[in-house]
Amino acid sequence: MTPLPSLQIGQYMARYPIIQGGMGIRISGAQLAAAVANAGGIGIISAVALGLNSTYFDSTQTNGRKRREQFFEANRLALIDEIRAARTLSPKGILGINAMVVAQDYETLVRTAAEEGVNLIISGAGLPLQLPSYTAAFPEVALVPIVSSTRAARVMCRKWERQYGRLPDAFVVENPNTAGGHLGAKLEELGDRALNAEQVIPALVAYLHEEVGQSIPVIAAGGVWDRADIDRMLALGASGVQIGTRFITTDECDANIRYKEFHLHAQPDDVVIISSPVGMPGRALRNAFVEKAIAGSPDLEKRCLFNCLHACKCRDEQQSFCIVQALDKAARGDIENGLVFSGSNAGRAQRLMPVAELMAELVA
Ligand SMILES: Cc1cc2nc3c(=O)[nH]c(=O)nc-3n(C[C@H](O)[C@H](O)[C@H](O)COP(=O)(O)O)c2cc1C
Repeated sequence: MTPLPSLQIGQYMARYPIIQGGMGIRISGAQLAAAVANAGGIGIISAVALGLNSTYFDSTQTNGRKRREQFFEANRLALIDEIRAARTLSPKGILGINAMVVAQDYETLVRTAAEEGVNLIISGAGLPLQLPSYTAAFPEVALVPIVSSTRAARVMCRKWERQYGRLPDAFVVENPNTAGGHLGAKLEELGDRALNAEQVIPALVAYLHEEVGQSIPVIAAGGVWDRADIDRMLALGASGVQIGTRFITTDECDANIRYKEFHLHAQPDDVVIISSPVGMPGRALRNAFVEKAIAGSPDLEKRCLFNCLHACKCRDEQQSFCIVQALDKAARGDIENGLVFSGSNAGRAQRLMPVAELMAELVA
């Protein structure tokens, strides 16, 4: 087998073409990101709502306005802690954050991450059309939008080039048919083969090469489990892969052990699609919470806690559930009442293993 190529994004060169996908809330924190970076990949801290499970947040605060202010400030301070912790664990590794455009504190989190010296910012759940303006003082920070189509990539390239005179340093292309978490397609579009890597990656690579005229790396995300999957993505023209679900069943994954064991014991048919209050479908593991969400059960807590998203059915229509609370609960180990996101490959892990061992297996 030929050795895997390295991966250059902006001015950073990773030994292996493997990015560990940002996973919120607190599924990919400092421990996981640093372990992946130390093993020659790119480690990504999820920047979303870190304040909730931090000492900066006072859960007894009853004044709604103060609680909201405090939540955002806690998110900022907790992100600083997480980035510094990761850098201490991996002084020389390539570290980045993942931030969601739909979050109200997106700009603050992105600016904070750049100030704290992260190497790259990966950004999805909306098109990060203004991202370059937030990090303009830090041109060394590589900027990587997540897209699901060439159409979205074209919008990004045109807008960034016209307005900021720069292009993205890479694109992550997420396949909504396989990836975990929020999916960049409508519910009724899921299953459409036109969304698959086999269609989207070659088309995007051709667009970037022929129309943009730049070698912008394309990173394939969704359903990548082993070396054969990596080779398949590289053969399609991708320069690397982003892997989420497989990194959950590692010793260093930052989630509670119950969360990891829930993933470990999942079966392939436990993977379901739910409607997230964000207005996108999400891929998750079946549990008591998900059953209620799918059934539209009145038992689900529908109180908006922080007004933390630009688009939210929980806030606007008192429908669905509070996504931040649901993800945070699960990450802390309440896997019955929380939301456990997962890619379509759940159920394939045999045991928890150290990241170094997993990375060695992936690149062997
Ligand atoms: C538990 C979980 C949480 C995730 N959270 C985020 C997130 O906050 N932001 C994001 O852009 N992607 C998120 N993702 C997507 C991953 O970063 C990754 O792109 C995707 O899971 C790749 O597919 P795979 O899980 O099949 O490897 C999440 C995925 C999982 C499984």
